[in-house]
Amino acid sequence: MQPAFLKERVDALAGRMTDVIAKHLKLWEQRAVSGEPFNLSWDVSALTVEIALQTMFDTGLGADAQGFKDAMHIAHDVTAKRVWNLTSLSEKLPTKRNRQFNEAVAFLQNVCSHIIDERRRSSHRADDLLSILMDARDAETNEAMNEQQLRDEIMTLMVSGHDTTATMVAWALLMLSQHPQHLERMRNETDTVMAGRLPEAGDLKGLEYTKRIIQEVARLRPSIWWFARVAINDDNIAGQPIKAGTTVFISQYLIHTLPQIWDDPEKFDPDRFLPEQSTGRSKFAYIPFGAGPRVCLGSGFAIMEMAFVLAMIFRRFDVEITSDREPVFGNLLTLRPNEDILARAKPRLRH
Ligand code: HEM
Repeated sequence: MQPAFLKERVDALAGRMTDVIAKHLKLWEQRAVSGEPFNLSWDVSALTVEIALQTMFDTGLGADAQGFKDAMHIAHDVTAKRVWNLTSLSEKLPTKRNRQFNEAVAFLQNVCSHIIDERRRSSHRADDLLSILMDARDAETNEAMNEQQLRDEIMTLMVSGHDTTATMVAWALLMLSQHPQHLERMRNETDTVMAGRLPEAGDLKGLEYTKRIIQEVARLRPSIWWFARVAINDDNIAGQPIKAGTTVFISQYLIHTLPQIWDDPEKFDPDRFLPEQSTGRSKFAYIPFGAGPRVCLGSGFAIMEMAFVLAMIFRRFDVEITSDREPVFGNLLTLRPNEDILARAKPRLRH
């Protein structure tokens, strides 16, 4: 998949990304007129799914959108609980939730199969990730991926490519609405760089403060907040003996909030990522996209997407959070808020 994520290929997706965002923000225009509160968590999820599908697979969900949302919700909820189960015994029981889970997975697999069938039937050869996956050949056997492998790859990309970003965008909207001084600085920057037009890939260079805001959100709310590795050899980490074969959990969230590394770790302060404030900090002190050979392939894609979504929303709207309680994160697969965030969109008030 690596060739699909080279910088120039990701940059080439910018126009398609901003098209999807602009189309989606038409809904926000209606909401800004009606003043009705809406579910911000679902909204950004729907947006990032559409971006993922349009840019990676040149397709959309259309009539499947509601079913997709419900299926993702169940699959996410059940998987998050299963991860912490010590045995897989209860997964086999014919409970209502297990049945719902199996149906949800079947639905999502169907969506993936449909994406593959649609492409096979069409004469159109889009130069996208789906083509790369379909054309890929095993270096030794020269075989293409079979149906299930292809479907699994699409599923992985669809899930890893949208839920992570949606979670972080939701937190960013929440945090910026709580820190108007940072929002103001970001708007000054985006207004200057974009000068009334839609953002382009080349703008990212100039959106330094916007990127620092994204970095700070990813520090405090890394949507993937832990990952695991199996030790190949016996080892010793900070005095703790590790036997070969042991599973070691590494938590981005814990590392990102260690007071030994970060001053006032809970404070929202994008400027801690200024070069002069980052000198001497280990590169492993900040790993929202993982590290090493399995580092996230989609980090460039995700950063561009988040910067564009934030810039395009805040260019025209103010976001008022209307949730009764302060959203905190739950013990889930991705570091989602424990409750959906509710909000109201208002036309931007210019000072
Ligand atoms: C804010 C958004 C994102 C975050 C925080 C994130 C985080 C991560 C992390 C931590 C890993 C490494 C997991 C491990 O080491 O076990 C990873 C891997 C991966 N991510 Fe992301 N990701 C994001 C967005 C995306 C997007 C948008 C895509 C695709 C368009 C993507 C595709 C992948 C893929 C394919 C891998 C597997 C790489 C490999 O195993 O070689 N990610 N991601």
